Amino acid sequence: MAMPRRLIDTVDHAGRSEGFEDEGALHERTGRASIRSPRRGIGAACRKACLANGFPAGVLQRGLSPGRALFVDALPSFYDDLDGFRAEGWRRLAEGVTNRHSPFHTPSLATVDAAGRPRLRTVVLRAADAGAGALRFHCDRRSDKAREIAANGLAALHVYDGRAKLQLRIEGRAHLHQDDAVADAAWGAALTMSRICYGVEPAPGTALTAGDAYTMPDEDPEARIGRENFCAVVLSAERMDLLYLDRRGHRRAVFRRGTETWTGTWVAP
Ligand SMILES: Cc1cc2nc3c(=O)[nH]c(=O)nc-3n(C[C@H](O)[C@H](O)[C@H](O)COP(=O)(O)O)c2cc1C
Repeated sequence: MAMPRRLIDTVDHAGRSEGFEDEGALHERTGRASIRSPRRGIGAACRKACLANGFPAGVLQRGLSPGRALFVDALPSFYDDLDGFRAEGWRRLAEGVTNRHSPFHTPSLATVDAAGRPRLRTVVLRAADAGAGALRFHCDRRSDKAREIAANGLAALHVYDGRAKLQLRIEGRAHLHQDDAVADAAWGAALTMSRICYGVEPAPGTALTAGDAYTMPDEDPEARIGRENFCAVVLSAERMDLLYLDRRGHRRAVFRRGTETWTGTWVAP
């Protein structure tokens, strides 16, 4: 979602601030502004524009080269809204399930191994249920992550979306579903190209004599090959930590989930 932008200042070719507020045509592609009827206002107007947009006066002028304009993104609606911030986290997660271009589509999953060491890897986010505070991804029953989740259930997901300037961390308990309705439904909805990954031999993580010394099954019209290795994993969120970066002041909040509801607080970023 593109944020509305305002032109708050330009610098002329002599390096002078021109002090425009909301005037002129903006050319997003070149980053230049064309001003049809310039209104002359230098220090004071520029200072006013800075302060109106939450900048300390003076910051605005640094880094501007002659002929270029500074654009300021409007603050997002959740900026000072704790419930809105949490909703934004879940909205991004839900979007990540369906939009493969979103960074929320491929979060990093952390687990803890038997020696207490952290383990990290990328997974594809398959479902995000804000009401239940639950997230789903899939894995192979024979993988390290499945073993680690089976052993202690401790898990966390992390995403940083650079365009949204939003970091999300969710910690909770993960549960493996292998032979139940959750796993059957997830398998039923999986694409063939995803399903065949679960038929890889030998098991994921096994040492090979050569890089290609493994086999993948052919496409299976019965959609059964790999099913015995397939797991749906549901992470029940217990804590969510959101960080939004903005030079006007970062916003960070921590939310904890009780049996059914969340409580949250702003925290120092
Ligand atoms: C973009 C991307 C998406 C991935 N999605 C999954 C996934 O959904 N499930 C999964 O088990 N592994 C997925 N992987 C592979 C894992 O990151 C990891 O390499 C593999 O599962 C072995 O992890 P483990 O040994 O810690 O269990 C993905 C890797 C990438 C790069």
